[in-house]
Parts: sequence; C-alpha cells; structure tokens
Amino acid sequence: MTMITFPGGWFLKLLHGFLMLLVHLSPFLGFISGAGVGDANNIRCLERERLALLEFKKGLVDDNGMLSSWGSEDENKNCCNWEGVNCRQTNHVLELHLGAYQNNRVQRLQGTISPSLLALTHLTLLDLSGNNFNQSHIPEFIGSLINLKYLDLSNADFSGPIPLQLGNLLHLQNLNLEGNNLTIIENLKWLSHLSLVKDLDLALTNLSVANDWLEVGSRLPHLTTLNLWSCNLPSMSLSSLPPFNYSKSFTSLESLILFGNQFDIIPKSFGNICTLRELDLSENNLNGQLFELINNLSAGCAKDSLEVLDLSGNQITGSLPNLAIFPSLKEIFLQYNNLNGTVPKSIGNLFNLEVLFVSSNFLHGVISEAHFSNLSKLRYLGLSNNSFTLEFSFNWVPPFQLEGIYLGSCMLGPRFPNWIQTQRNISNLKISYARISDTIPMWFADLPPTLRVIDFSSNHIDGRLPDLSIKCMYLEEINLSVNRLEGPLPLLPTNLSILNLSENRFSGSISSICEINGGLLKYLDLSHNLLSGKLPNCFMHWPNLVILNFTGNNFYGEVPSSLGLLSQLQTVSLSYNSFSGDLPLSLKNCSLLTFINFENNRFFGTVPTWIGEDLPQLIILILRSNKFYGSIPLNLCWLKYLRILDLSINDISGSIPRCIDNFTAMAEKGDSSTDIISSVYNYSYDEHLIFEKIYVDSARIAWKGRDDEYRKNLGLLKIINLSSNKLTGKLPSQISSLLQLVGLDVSKTT
Ligand SMILES: *[C@@H]1O[C@H](CO)[C@@H](O)[C@H](O)[C@H]1NC(C)=O
Ligand SMILES: *[C@@H]1O[C@H](CO)[C@@H](O)[C@H](O)[C@H]1NC(C)=O
Ligand SMILES: *[C@@H]1O[C@H](CO)[C@@H](O)[C@H](O)[C@H]1NC(C)=O
Ligand SMILES: *[C@@H]1O[C@H](CO)[C@@H](O)[C@H](O)[C@H]1NC(C)=O
Ligand SMILES: *[C@@H]1O[C@H](CO)[C@@H](O)[C@H](O)[C@H]1NC(C)=O
Ligand SMILES: *[C@@H]1O[C@H](CO)[C@@H](O)[C@H](O)[C@H]1NC(C)=O
Ligand SMILES: *[C@@H]1O[C@H](CO)[C@@H](O)[C@H](O)[C@H]1NC(C)=O
Ligand SMILES: *[C@@H]1O[C@H](CO)[C@@H](O)[C@H](O)[C@H]1NC(C)=O
Ligand SMILES: *[C@@H]1O[C@H](CO)[C@@H](O)[C@H](O)[C@H]1NC(C)=O
Ligand SMILES: *[C@@H]1O[C@H](CO)[C@@H](O)[C@H](O)[C@H]1NC(C)=O
Ligand SMILES: *[C@@H]1O[C@H](CO)[C@@H](O)[C@H](O)[C@H]1NC(C)=O
Ligand SMILES: *[C@@H]1O[C@H](CO)[C@@H](O)[C@H](O)[C@H]1NC(C)=O
Repeated sequence: MTMITFPGGWFLKLLHGFLMLLVHLSPFLGFISGAGVGDANNIRCLERERLALLEFKKGLVDDNGMLSSWGSEDENKNCCNWEGVNCRQTNHVLELHLGAYQNNRVQRLQGTISPSLLALTHLTLLDLSGNNFNQSHIPEFIGSLINLKYLDLSNADFSGPIPLQLGNLLHLQNLNLEGNNLTIIENLKWLSHLSLVKDLDLALTNLSVANDWLEVGSRLPHLTTLNLWSCNLPSMSLSSLPPFNYSKSFTSLESLILFGNQFDIIPKSFGNICTLRELDLSENNLNGQLFELINNLSAGCAKDSLEVLDLSGNQITGSLPNLAIFPSLKEIFLQYNNLNGTVPKSIGNLFNLEVLFVSSNFLHGVISEAHFSNLSKLRYLGLSNNSFTLEFSFNWVPPFQLEGIYLGSCMLGPRFPNWIQTQRNISNLKISYARISDTIPMWFADLPPTLRVIDFSSNHIDGRLPDLSIKCMYLEEINLSVNRLEGPLPLLPTNLSILNLSENRFSGSISSICEINGGLLKYLDLSHNLLSGKLPNCFMHWPNLVILNFTGNNFYGEVPSSLGLLSQLQTVSLSYNSFSGDLPLSLKNCSLLTFINFENNRFFGTVPTWIGEDLPQLIILILRSNKFYGSIPLNLCWLKYLRILDLSINDISGSIPRCIDNFTAMAEKGDSSTDIISSVYNYSYDEHLIFEKIYVDSARIAWKGRDDEYRKNLGLLKIINLSSNKLTGKLPSQISSLLQLVGLDVSKTT
C-alpha cells in the first residue's frame, strides 16, 4: 500500500476494498473463535505439524503476542487449539487464519515466512493478510502447498514478481494478492492453470505488461469476481489484445472491478459476459459520449444481467441516455464526469433502481415527482453539484425511503423541503447551497434516529434549533454553517465528531457543547456568531480534536487550561474575541499545533518561550493586536516550518533577533501542494466513496492595510509582520537569506 502513489479517490476505494474484504472473510472469521473444538473431540495435532508451526513462529516478530498460545507447555501442546489454527476436527492443521485484521483487532506480524509450513501437507487455507513482510518477495514454496483452496496475502507488504509457482495450486478457489508492491513476469499465463478459481484479486499489482489478462481471465470457468483495480492496465484501444472470442467464456463472471486503470473504451467483449452483474470502470480515461460507451454493453447479453454500473470519475460527455435498456440495473454511478443535458423521464422505468449518483456533472433541468413515481426501491440519491431545480408539491410523499440524500447546489427552495420528514431511514442528509430561505420546521425535532450526517449549510435558514441530543443521538456530523439560525445553542448529541455552526446568529453561552463528551469530536467551528461568556472548562472531553475555531464572537475571560489537553490539536483560532490574561501554559502540550491565530483579543504577558520550544510544527503564528510585551524570545527561531509570523500591534520591545535566518521555510520555495495545513479526513458512504478533504485552513492576513483571505495559496505565503510595536535597533542582515519572504513589515516600531 505504501509504495504506490495514487490520487485520494483511490485511497478511499482501498478502504472500501478493505471493508469488503472484512465482510467477505466473516464466514472464515467465525472459525477462529472455535478454539475449543479440538479439545471437545479429543483431537490432537500431529507432533510434526506442531513443530513446523513453532518453526514458522520463530521466523515471525509477534509484537502483539498474537501467537502467545503457540507454545510447548503441556497446556499448549495441542496446536489445533492455538490462536488462528484450525484443524476442523481432523488431526491435521487445515487452516491458518493469521490475517492482521481479526476479531476487530489489528495485530500485525512481521518477519519471514518459514518453509517449515510445507510440513502442513493438508493446509487448505492460508491467510497472512495485512501483516508486514517488509517488501520481501512472496516465497516460491507457497506454490508447493498444493492443497490450498484459499490464499490471502493481501496488503502484507510484499514486493517483487508474483512467483509462477502459484500456478501449481490447482485447488485454489480464492487468491488475493491485493495491495502489495508486486509485478508480474511477462504475462498471466500461470493463472490459466487455476481452473477452480472463483475470486481473484490482484488489485494494485503492476499489470502494465499483461496483455493477456482478459484472455486468461475468460478461460477460468468458475471465475466470479475479478478485481484488478489500479493495476496500470493499459488503454484497451492501444494495446494489442490477441484476437479471441470472449463470448465463449467468462461463463461465471459476476464482478469485474477495474477502477483506477487507463481504459478509454468499453470493449464489446464486456457486453458478452452473460453473467456480469457489476462493472466498475470508475477513475479511468473513458471519454466520448455516454450512449456510445454503453452501446457495447447493451449490444450483448450483459444487458439483461447488469445490476451495478460505475463509470464515475471519467471524462464522459453527452447527455444521459435511456438507461432502462438495462432492465436489472440497481446501482448507477456517473458522478464526476462531464455529462450535460437533462435527466430523462425514462429513468423512472428502472423499477429496481436503488442507487443513483449523477453528482458533479453539468446536468440541468427540472426534477419532478414524475421522475420518481416508480422508484420505490431507491436508497441513495446523488444529484449535487449540477444545475437542477427540484420541483415537488409541498405534500409529496415519495415512494422510497432514502438512506443517502445528496442534493447540494440543487435549487430546492425557497421553502424547506417538506418531504424530507417522510424519510424515516436517512443516514446522510446533505442539502447545502440549495437556496432554502425558510424557518427551520417544527418537525426538525423529529428527524429519524438513523441520521448520522446532516448538512444544510449555505442556505438562508432562520429560527432556533431544537434539542438534538436525544432523538438524533447518533449524529456524527452537523454542518449548518452560513445560515441565519439564532437563539442559544441547542443540546447536542454526545458522539459528534464534526460540528460546524459558523456564520449564524447563535447567541449566549456555549456550555451545551460540553455534552459532546463521547471523545470523538475532531472539528469544532463556532466562528462568526454572537456567542458570549467565558469558555467552559470541558476540553478534556475532546482528546481527538484537530480543529478549533471560535473566531469572531464575544467570548471573554481567560482561556481554560484544559485547552492543553487537546493533544491532537493542529489548528486553533480564537481571534476577534475579548479573551484576556496570559496564554495558557498548558497549550505547550499541544505539540502538533500548526496554526495559531489569537488576533484581536486582550491577551497579555510576554510572548511565551514555550511556543518556540514545544510547538515545533508551527506554520502560522498570529498574535496580532493584543497586549503582548517584552522582547521576542530567541527560541522562536527554532520554528523552522514557520511561514507567517504576525506579532504586530502589541507592545513588544527589544531588537529583532538575528537568528531569524533559522526560519528555513521562509527561505525555501513552497509549492501549492503544501496549501493544506491541517485537515480532517472524513469517510462516509458519500457521493460513492469520494474522500472529502473537508477542511482547508485559511487565515485572514492583515497585510499593509489590505485584508485578504488567503485560502488557495496559503502554502506560498511567507510573511513577517512586526509593525506597530516598540522594537528598536536595525533590521538584521540575516533577513536577506529569507529568499521567499513576500512581505516584511517592521513599520511603526517605536
Ligand atoms: C517496490 O518494488 C520495487 C522493486 O520491485 C522497488 O524498487 C521499490 O522500492 C518498491 N517500493 C516500495 C515503496 O517499497
Ligand atoms: C526490512 O528489510 C530491510 C532491507 O531488506 C532490512 O534492513 C530491515 O532490517 C528489515 N526490517 C525488518 C523489521 O525486518
Ligand atoms: C509498471 O511496470 C512497467 C513495466 O515493467 C514499468 O515500466 C512501469 O514504470 C511500472 N509502473 C509503475 C507505476 O510502477
Ligand atoms: C463467438 O462465440 C459465440 C458462442 O459460441 C458464437 O455465437 C459467435 O459466433 C462467435 N463469434 C465469433 C466472431 O467467432
Ligand atoms: C466498442 O467495442 C469495440 C470492440 O471492442 C471497440 O473497438 C470500440 O472502441 C468500443 N466503443 C466504445 C465507444 O467503447
Ligand atoms: C452538451 O455539450 C455539448 C458540447 O460540449 C454541446 O454541443 C451540447 O449542445 C450540450 N447539450 C446540452 C443539452 O446542453
Ligand atoms: C412507471 O411505470 C408505469 C408502468 O410500467 C409506466 O407506464 C410509467 O411510464 C412509469 N413512469 C415513469 C415516469 O417512467
Ligand atoms: C463540481 O463538478 C465539477 C464537474 O465535475 C467538478 O469539476 C468539481 O470539482 C465539482 N465540485 C465539487 C465541490 O465537488
Ligand atoms: C434502513 O437502512 C438500513 C441501512 O442503513 C437498511 O439495512 C435497512 O434495510 C433500511 N430499512 C428500511 C425499512 O428501509
Ligand atoms: C460545511 O459547510 C461549509 C459551507 O457550505 C463548507 O465550506 C464546509 O466545507 C462544510 N464542511 C465542514 C466540515 O465544515
Ligand atoms: C535553529 O533551529 C534549531 C531547531 O530547528 C535549533 O536547534 C537551533 O538552536 C536554532 N538556531 C538558532 C540560532 O536559534
Ligand atoms: C474560522 O472560521 C472562519 C469562518 O467563520 C474562517 O473565515 C476562518 O478561516 C476560520 N479560521 C480557522 C483558522 O479555521
């Protein structure tokens, strides 16, 4: 996994793949806990096999003690009872379940795989997935474990060529080598011997030279799932595929997972796979008109079997054709393409449709009740980031119960969409930028308990929020920023991980946020409201908080010392309030801090020395417009990543330290990839698994009277502002080594 660079979207797929793997493995997982089986039946493992396992253990580094039951003591003699070993009521070891992800734990083994395993002549299952074999090669002798039916070496840090000897495993039904740094020797011919293989997963293997993958695959009569995502498979139109009548074979193939390759066409042969249920060609180079691309699929028998079609993240153009030509379709993923035009009413003939994602295209037009009248099975609806207008009558009762609603940037307003209250099984509800100008409805207090994510940000919603702490107790994310909500903060669910109520008119004390005490909070943004009072001393509930933004309220008093308990904190912005007193000393424990903005408060005291000593990751430090005095501590120069230092409008005296040439980040060229200073990654079944980088830091930098919001290019901005202080002496010559400094202001010092 570590060795391959791939865009964010794929990384998510990786996660997805991992989750699927877990689901997939669960029947096997069940056996592991059956440790007592051997005893109960007086089954004892053979001494030869026991010694072989002990020898195998010797080669491994077992930091977590996963193999602690593997011993020679009397009570541990029966190796059929050892963790991960299963004899299935024989005297032979039949299964070794040693994947790192077992029973909801991660226990990663390291080391080498001893050939002593060859003594396990009856072994049918070997799972070493997720362990760390330190970029070693897959041992060739695994090809001699000829009774193997199931071999899982996925995500185990192997590298090098896949040994041809695996072609000897004639009983293999399941082969998973996904997520290693593997290559192949010339072609995949060795695979064609594995005639019993059902599930084949070589994802993230470099198959760029495997011109025969389709031919070999099509000759495996039992092949059901073929997983070749991110395999560098070449564009089909350019490669010289040998002539072959594919319609003769692929007699069992149901899932063809090819995302993250370089396909620019959909070959006709795919349409001839009569058993094909799922085709994933997302994140490839497909271009041209959608109707032409799917013509090849609808020309053959796959037309009737196809249930899942994922063409998202390509450059497909044209309008949405009549997809009802695939009568079995359940899931359509077309988001992140260049489709234009409207959504045809014929979509309503897809009676089996459960998932429809066409977000992030250039579609437009009116979506009405008529589109949905037959779609009673719909569970996910993604229309966001197009130019749709949604027109439903006020009392519309949809025929479906949605789990995911993604309607961002759709024109839904001005009234609050009333039909949402009929949806009693929603998990994700995202309706930002929908031009809703309305008061929050009474039934908002009665949202279903299934709700996990709610985003009504950037609308014009007014009114007061009801208590969300009981009915919506499973909420994980709330984004209601940029609205006109008012009144006190409501009671909030315990297990929130993201709360953004910024840019509203909430007022009064914020003590209710202390109820978010499940320890999961990562992101808290209450900026630009009318909140007031002292901060409650409950930061200890948020050990995982990464981003804290209280900018632009009326908070006053000292910052509670429990702020220092936020050991994961990267960004803290308390600017434009009336905080006073010293900066809390405890803040020095927040050693991951990259961004501090305390501008425009009444903080008092000397610029603390611990900032330089204990916050080595700091990139931005803004203490502008406070009451700091004393000299600039020399150890501030230790901050080699610092790009913005703003101490202006204080009472700081003394000279400018010569060691400022130690701000190496100001001397070196930045690049725009360093824009992001801290980010919280968030994973949910969102717009079909597109990783959302939900937070990009930004800072209002007051620069020579201009107030600019630097968001995109923050990484490039390098500024020192010491103006309006009581500094004396000369500008040290060392400043000239800060080659990338775009701004230096030392005006009005003294
Ligand atoms: C992947 O394997 C190649 C050789 O096959 C090696 O050069 C490269 O360093 C490996 N990558 C990583 C990240 O280990
Ligand atoms: C991993 O391999 C490298 C070089 O092959 C070796 O130097 C290192 O000690 C190995 N690490 C472990 C934990 O085995
Ligand atoms: C994949 O393998 C080919 C041929 O061996 C090589 O040219 C290419 O650089 C490899 N691609 C990656 C991403 O490693
Ligand atoms: C391919 O095989 C199918 C089924 O055997 C047959 O109907 C078709 O004519 C063949 N196509 C070609 C081009 O040989
Ligand atoms: C349709 O399939 C043929 C034969 O595989 C291929 O040459 C053509 O490019 C495909 N068309 C599209 C639009 O993918
Ligand atoms: C879609 O875009 C193409 C060009 O990209 C344009 O010719 C066509 O008129 C557009 N169709 C619609 C319905 O907007
Ligand atoms: C819904 O199904 C009925 C019955 O098959 C059909 O007549 C009607 O056209 C469909 N509605 C839409 C909007 O497709
Ligand atoms: C909106 O859709 C366009 C077109 O696919 C895409 O380029 C853009 O990134 C999307 N915006 C968001 C916020 O997803
Ligand atoms: C509600 O959603 C869950 C998945 O989130 C699903 O398993 C369940 O079947 C749905 N229930 C109904 C009544 O639709
Ligand atoms: C919340 O909504 C705002 C405004 O629509 C948006 O900029 C932000 O990315 C959203 N997400 C979070 C986590 O704040
Ligand atoms: C420069 O910074 C390093 C740490 O980044 C520190 O050890 C060193 O003392 C600093 N030099 C000066 C002159 O402050
Ligand atoms: C805090 O939130 C405001 C918007 O309300 C935003 O402009 C500012 O960039 C945020 N600052 C930080 C450091 O997150």
